[in-house]
Amino acid sequence: MAASAKGAVVMLGAELRAGFLDFFRQRGHEIVASAPIVPRDDPTLMFTNAGMVRFKDVFLGLAEPVHPRVADSQKCLRISGKHNDLEEVGRDTYHHTLFEMLGNWSFGDYYKAEAIEWAWELLTGVWEMPKSDLYATVYTTDEEAAGLWTRVTDIEASRVLVFDEKDNFWEMGETGPCGPCSEIHIDRGPGACDMKKVKGHRCAVNGGCARFIEIWNLVFIQYTRDGEGVLHELPAKHVDTGMGLERVAAILEGVDNNYDGSLLRGAIARAEEISGRAYGGGGEEDVAFRVLADHGRAVAFMIADGIDPANEGRGYVLRRLLRRAARHGKGLGLDEPFLFKVCESVIESMSAAYPELGREHDRIVATVRGEEERFSETLDRGLLKLDEAVAALGRKKTSLPGDVAFRLYDTYGFPLDMTEDILRSRGIGVDREGFDRALAEQRELARASRDPRESAVDPVLLIRAVGEAGGSSFAGADVDEAESRGVALAA
Ligand code: SER
Repeated sequence: MAASAKGAVVMLGAELRAGFLDFFRQRGHEIVASAPIVPRDDPTLMFTNAGMVRFKDVFLGLAEPVHPRVADSQKCLRISGKHNDLEEVGRDTYHHTLFEMLGNWSFGDYYKAEAIEWAWELLTGVWEMPKSDLYATVYTTDEEAAGLWTRVTDIEASRVLVFDEKDNFWEMGETGPCGPCSEIHIDRGPGACDMKKVKGHRCAVNGGCARFIEIWNLVFIQYTRDGEGVLHELPAKHVDTGMGLERVAAILEGVDNNYDGSLLRGAIARAEEISGRAYGGGGEEDVAFRVLADHGRAVAFMIADGIDPANEGRGYVLRRLLRRAARHGKGLGLDEPFLFKVCESVIESMSAAYPELGREHDRIVATVRGEEERFSETLDRGLLKLDEAVAALGRKKTSLPGDVAFRLYDTYGFPLDMTEDILRSRGIGVDREGFDRALAEQRELARASRDPRESAVDPVLLIRAVGEAGGSSFAGADVDEAESRGVALAA
């Protein structure tokens, strides 16, 4: 281990993952393998979006834990519902669809004091992060946590900051286990700010720029929220911590951003090799490289966990990612299928930690390649149509009519978010209401022409009903479902 520029030790992502688990093993934790990306028996969530999802029933007192103390590295996907980072992915250097969340858990065992003390010990004692770069935040009414920070660690009192529910009350969705949290943030120095040009911006913890970033969230699970939004005390109190491995790896590897860290650099390098272009020049090409690396990882993990491309639900989310990557590949001059090769590099570098990737190698590669081949037939034509539509906007280039976005989606398989993504960089929006109207009209036509004896249940309504029953994590379901319907009709 060598010293990084910031004084912390330099460790690669894989060493960090192992080091984290080891630290908690020594403190009485049982190490468990990651749960699948598709939550088992949980209709409220499309994907595992946090390490705690698998333990929800334990928190609620409905299941017994394997051990009162557990630690793991959980594969998480934040691409639907309450925690959805898709729009940021590729545009900045620290959001991901798929990421690894390191976590330690107490199920009615230790509580705030140990969680805080150990987090500080690992970061500053073992990994030697400079204390002068770190801040802790606590929930506005959590005086206990605020007091503990200065009692059980040697953090300076002025570095313990108070925030309200927006930043310091953690919930997995609209319902379920939740509680106040205490986060640790790092100051990466003025050079890391990516909002210098934003008028009135001041770098600060929770200030929105890349200078101060959260590295570890310690959640003190003590409530569950019901369908009416009411909080109820849980029978026991628990600890749920989550640390984004990619972020902390970038910091400890001494690189400026997650995509230069060892966990993502391999996928970027494969994309450079395939395209013959270099990452790091800035602008849209760099966005494309980051999208390819991020989405290549996400689709490899999704397929390994049994998700197949489809026109609805999880399969459609996978399809949207594949299409988003395909269109960004165009920006790098990639006309032939390429993402399957990025997936291969992901499998090579990550199957030691996640053996399911190696086991499913052939299915991942064949699925991605097949989807790329099919979509490339319509992608070029759709992009041409989009260019024509933008040219037809003339000087009033502010918003693409909704019916045009709908045609792109219906005929060429362009997911709405992909069209929006393409246009955003040109400063053009999409008339979403017009899109919804066109979709509703088509749905009406389809309904009218359907033989009522064919099926007693409208599949569109059925999907909506499932989404509504499932709560907020299907908040994106209307669009997913709407889009899937259009693609289904176009197919
Ligand atoms: N549940 C918290 C989070 O996802 C900590 O694990 O951030």
